[in-house]
Amino acid sequence: MENESSAIFDLKSLQQTLRLKSVIFQVEMSSTNDVGLEILKQSSTSLPCLVLAETQSAGRGRGGNRWSTSEGALTFSLLLERANIALPLLSLVAGLSIARTLETTSELLPQLKWPNDVYVGQNKIAGVLIESNANGIVVGMGININNRPTVEHSTSLQQITCRPSQLQSILTHLLGCFFDTFEFAATSPQQLIEQCQNSMLYLGREICFDIGTQEFAGTFLGLDDSGGMILETSTGRETIISAKNIRLAD
Ligand code: BTN
Repeated sequence: MENESSAIFDLKSLQQTLRLKSVIFQVEMSSTNDVGLEILKQSSTSLPCLVLAETQSAGRGRGGNRWSTSEGALTFSLLLERANIALPLLSLVAGLSIARTLETTSELLPQLKWPNDVYVGQNKIAGVLIESNANGIVVGMGININNRPTVEHSTSLQQITCRPSQLQSILTHLLGCFFDTFEFAATSPQQLIEQCQNSMLYLGREICFDIGTQEFAGTFLGLDDSGGMILETSTGRETIISAKNIRLAD
């Protein structure tokens, strides 16, 4: 795939300053995750690879949801070798990197909402969608920066700070932070889990959530070694590895 030129991103400097082996850019893609999965299938691209678009026409979120990406959002997928890291832990690496980047570049205090959303206050600012196939892993990240998300309980950096931010510098910081945190997760997984726990929304609170069509409730006690959510429920202690629509219990 031939790269288009970008009025927003300096692709050369992204490739040079970061630990990337390749960068694939189109002004508009259907979904950077879909393009990433296709690229992995061909297995001729050097990894890690950044798949970057300015807008997506068919962005996807978790659970088959749509992820709307208008101009001004940061939208990309990182293609990685299949690594010896649990995917829930990788989700946390991505979420924590986004939160730390927003904290450092914009002095916000974002929190992680398990498993991989990033919130500022009660509003979602970013989401992560991890997918994989036999040839590698796709870590898709969508961050609302200079766009105006229309979904209820969502926000963007510009809506919070009342000024536009430079996508290039946020992306550069975020990728550096992601690779550092990824290495840290490999050497010190327990410390990574503790750091994530310290930034977790609803920790210690009574929450409810859906698994399939069933609703469950419990107190959110913390994270287990692979990033699962430990809950105290009416029937005892349980670890949840997948849930939707997590919210505070009434
Ligand atoms: C979620 O919160 O449900 C996850 C949203 C993930 C959105 C990103 S944007 C870049 C990448 N490409 C996609 O189609 N989705 C992810």
